[in-house]
Amino acid sequence: MNSDHLHAFATPAATIEGMAEHLAALIAGNVQATGTCSLALAGGSTPRALYERLAQADYVERIPWPNVQVYWGDERCVAPEDPKSNYSMARSTLLDHVPIEPDQVHPMRGDLDPAESAERYAQELGSDPLDIVLLGLGSDGHTASLFPKGPELHVDTPTTHSQSPIPPTDRITLSLACINRSHQVIFLVTGAAKAQRFQEVRAQLRLPITSNTLPAARVRPSSGPAHWFVDHAVLDS
Ligand code: 6PG
Repeated sequence: MNSDHLHAFATPAATIEGMAEHLAALIAGNVQATGTCSLALAGGSTPRALYERLAQADYVERIPWPNVQVYWGDERCVAPEDPKSNYSMARSTLLDHVPIEPDQVHPMRGDLDPAESAERYAQELGSDPLDIVLLGLGSDGHTASLFPKGPELHVDTPTTHSQSPIPPTDRITLSLACINRSHQVIFLVTGAAKAQRFQEVRAQLRLPITSNTLPAARVRPSSGPAHWFVDHAVLDS
């Protein structure tokens, strides 16, 4: 991992603060340069605190939400109002609290057939690379809904469906091809439980990809190494 892109902080709260600052500046810079910014949100539990921080008044004022197009990195195949839905989590923690119109929000349809929904999402994404993709790290080294040894690791379409070993099983996800075309990828990883897997991914990122390379270590954007926002508990293993 390029150490220039490792952002380490003493605590989860400090990591969230540092990432919020980075993200606000990056989004504003994209909008200033091109008039728009496409942002793919991560799911799971870690980003909740980040989204809640971005929903606070100081960041709501700083981020030009009317110029932002919101996507997702992955989705569980559940109804949008299901608490397990990444859409539902982002809505309640962030999107219901910022000035954004419905046509700027592009959820993956977890309520449709997974293969059909993945194809529909590829159309919705269009041909332009995403500006920003937020990702987490699963304890097995997965990211988005790209799982170790899964066939989804090898597709060249922008989206695909996958099967999670942890329920909800059926998933829709951006593919590595899509993630690696994006202009900036940012991982958020906190907590000692992720330390060992983080070190494994960090080591694999320095090596060529093989059949044993974890999904998170296959994230190698052509635009430059991903940014990693981590706390010291993740580093101290
Ligand atoms: C999901 C996420 C997934 C997540 C990791 C880490 O839908 O669950 O997209 O890739 O980022 O599993 O999850 P936690 O943040 O809950 O540890």
